[in-house]
Amino acid sequence: MIVKQRLGINIDHVATLRNARGGALPDPVRAAVMAEQAGADGITAHLREDRRHIRDADIAAIMGAITIPLNFEMAATDEMQAIALSHMPHAACIVPERREERTTEGGLEVAGDESRLARYIGPLRDAGIRVSLFIAADPAQIAAAARIGAPVVELHTGAYCDYDADGDVAARDAELSRLIAGAKQAADLGLEVHMGHGLNYHNVTPIAALPEVAELNIGHFLIGEAVFVGLPAAIAEMRRMMESARA
Ligand code: PXP
Repeated sequence: MIVKQRLGINIDHVATLRNARGGALPDPVRAAVMAEQAGADGITAHLREDRRHIRDADIAAIMGAITIPLNFEMAATDEMQAIALSHMPHAACIVPERREERTTEGGLEVAGDESRLARYIGPLRDAGIRVSLFIAADPAQIAAAARIGAPVVELHTGAYCDYDADGDVAARDAELSRLIAGAKQAADLGLEVHMGHGLNYHNVTPIAALPEVAELNIGHFLIGEAVFVGLPAAIAEMRRMMESARA
């Protein structure tokens, strides 16, 4: 059992708000520093192909301003690999990316793309970047992630969170069962298990309670909540809920 579960704060939506006006504010670097001061264990940020969240210059600025690890989310493209290798973040989370999606809607297809992804993550791993694969809690994807030598998987909690929001309890519980089984399978294969996407105060407890889950990455809800209560208070409440889920 991992006792202290890490909380990574995704600051993408501070950048989204900044980009809406095309200026410099609100500053995602300030959000990253504030999240660290509020007790975050890591900062997550996604450099999308269309740069709708953070932009290239934000990477160095964030890394220069925080002392906690940066988890750099990226698509499995040559461009992103070169950017990751030039900045050397602590971790790189490989995510699927489609231009037309509103957010990262599904997990990465690892089982159907094993040899390319094995070759792709090689240079990142060799450079000392901790690679994680953002996948669905699907036994075939988890097994493929282990086969290609990824040390970490992040299991996509989006479907579980969506069903929870819809009030479809049976579907939510089926997704939760999949996540529970996926976490166990991944841990049995020696993978470190993270989870994220769509987590909020209402749905986090059963996820945070899973003994195999070493890290949660949470963004959209906390940045939204920060509008009302401030980022430190929003993060502190999430941390309190995670800790009470594990107590
Ligand atoms: N983890 C990964 C891999 C993601 O792509 C995202 C969304 O960018 C998150 C966690 C955070 O999701 P949310 O913003 O819904 O909390």
